[in-house]
Amino acid sequence: MTMALIELRDVTKTYKRDAIEIPVLESVTISVPEGDYLGLMGPSGSGKSTLLNLLAGIDRPTGGSIRIGDTEISTLSERALAAWRARHIGFIFQLYNLIPVLTAFENVELPLLLTSLSKKQRREHVMTALNIVSLADRAAHYPRQLSGGQEQRVAIARAIVTDPTLLLADEPTGDLDAKSAGEVLTLLQRLNTEYKKTIVMVTHDPHAAERATHLLHLEKGTLVEQVGA
Ligand SMILES: Nc1ncnc2c1ncn2[C@@H]1O[C@H](COP(=O)(O)OP(=O)(O)OP(=O)(O)O)[C@@H](O)[C@H]1O
Ligand SMILES: [Mg+2]
Repeated sequence: MTMALIELRDVTKTYKRDAIEIPVLESVTISVPEGDYLGLMGPSGSGKSTLLNLLAGIDRPTGGSIRIGDTEISTLSERALAAWRARHIGFIFQLYNLIPVLTAFENVELPLLLTSLSKKQRREHVMTALNIVSLADRAAHYPRQLSGGQEQRVAIARAIVTDPTLLLADEPTGDLDAKSAGEVLTLLQRLNTEYKKTIVMVTHDPHAAERATHLLHLEKGTLVEQVGA
């Protein structure tokens, strides 16, 4: 048996506002094998984005352990966590989060500026990523010159350009029409099957959830059901 890529044990998250404690995650235990495409569903406020941010190392758990690959990320220093995140995580947001004054090429190149790659190597990596999302011909376009679906595909190219261990997507089709959403979902599925990327995707959309190989359901901070095998 191979070791799971992601192992969460008794993860809790409580936010403190003034003197008030808001429990968001209560003892979440999950094991995700390498190569999985996990869909995370649940009502608004159930803690889905919180869980995804913990996996990304954007936020820290209040208790419990989070192991990804051979790294226990909950105990890393801020500096080590930032370096780990840059190397291992590709994040896809609902609202794309592209930088408006940068071209598609420059947006995708951004994560590579933190690496030791040469300008020529960066160019090769960026064009490979833009080719995968079928937008090589839009490299010089600015975000405002792209459709929402194209913007999200540029954001996906940015998320995969460093060849991360794990792709995390928070409602990646939440702001798209049905056709663009379908294209983005087909792309994510290809990244999983063809490029063997492990994906965790938060979604409200049953069409999106259908594409995942496993589904987990969060309800008020706990996992309530596990559909599929
Ligand atoms: N930084 C924060 N400080 C305080 N409370 C927070 C913070 N982030 C989230 N929360 C609270 O945690 C709970 C879960 O939020 P979260 O964003 O994880 O939900 P969600 O499942 O992603 O919801 P949605 O489907 O609406 O995106 C909410 O009650 C929210 O108000
Ligand atoms: Mg959310």
